Amino acid sequence: MRACAMAHPNVALIKYWGKREAAANLPAVGSLSVTLGALRTETTVVFDEMLSHDVLILNGVEQPSEHPRLTACLDALRALSGCQFNAQVVSENDFPTGAGLASSASGYAALVTAAAAALGIDADEPRLFDIARIGSGSAPRSLYGGVALLRNEGDGTQIEQLITPEDWALSVVVAVTTEVAKDTTSRDGMEQSRLTSPYYGQWIATHEADLERAVDCVRNRDFDTLAELAEHSCLKMHSVMMTTRPPLLYWSPTTLAAMLKILTMRNDGVPVFFTIDAGPQVKAVCPTGVAGEVESELAGVPGVLRTITGELGYGARIVAG
Ligand code: PMV
Repeated sequence: MRACAMAHPNVALIKYWGKREAAANLPAVGSLSVTLGALRTETTVVFDEMLSHDVLILNGVEQPSEHPRLTACLDALRALSGCQFNAQVVSENDFPTGAGLASSASGYAALVTAAAAALGIDADEPRLFDIARIGSGSAPRSLYGGVALLRNEGDGTQIEQLITPEDWALSVVVAVTTEVAKDTTSRDGMEQSRLTSPYYGQWIATHEADLERAVDCVRNRDFDTLAELAEHSCLKMHSVMMTTRPPLLYWSPTTLAAMLKILTMRNDGVPVFFTIDAGPQVKAVCPTGVAGEVESELAGVPGVLRTITGELGYGARIVAG
């Protein structure tokens, strides 16, 4: 009853921020993401009748015994399989954890993939997406590679892979501006935004049109229009964050410097755009052919600690471990 899985984080080009229903962790809006092949989470799950509770060892450190989201995911999987045993989960990220690099997305995608395999649940079981979503709203997107589309449908969500990594040679350059974890979780921040930002209603009302246009851009490989839409979605989300009370200011001076560098490059004819999540890291998306140039420009921005560059990755999968 043991399996090991690998998953990559993903970054949304059309963002989600806010919940439609907190208990089931249903997003208020759909989202469109690319999978970051250069970053990896590897997770081993062992179900063992000798364990008195679920144990999580994250990056070599045993976590406090209460971790409700992890246990909620494992409970849902145990219910599907009929297994009653507790689990030991050993998870390693090869990138900063909890710092706006979507470690929860790859973490829960790897967890669900490994735990399902350890319990003998079919990898094609559609409920695995809903179970990954219990852990993190963006985790179902990491079950897929390439470009993933998550939509609200009825009282649930639907997810599809729009294109594979082979279909469009895109790369993502991450400008790492801090290795330190953030202090407000996305889940708490979203709820504060819903309750207090005067722009939250507008964010929700204008979101669907951005998503539909971006889906068309991906299908037609229209990089320039996608660049404008993705930056707009990112800046709208951050406008909601900034106007939350108390404010959610995720950017550092280095974040802004990297954004300005990317805008300057695009004005100079280099196809590249930025996106930023709930943290100060900047992700630049570009055709793979210009990734080297984008990387060296971003590495030269004062305050950028290092860059991580990679092509689009594949979905979560079982590995030897
Ligand atoms: O996956 P969550 O529920 O922690 O939320 C992530 C939200 C953003 O990364 C800020 C945006 C997104 O769509 O990924």
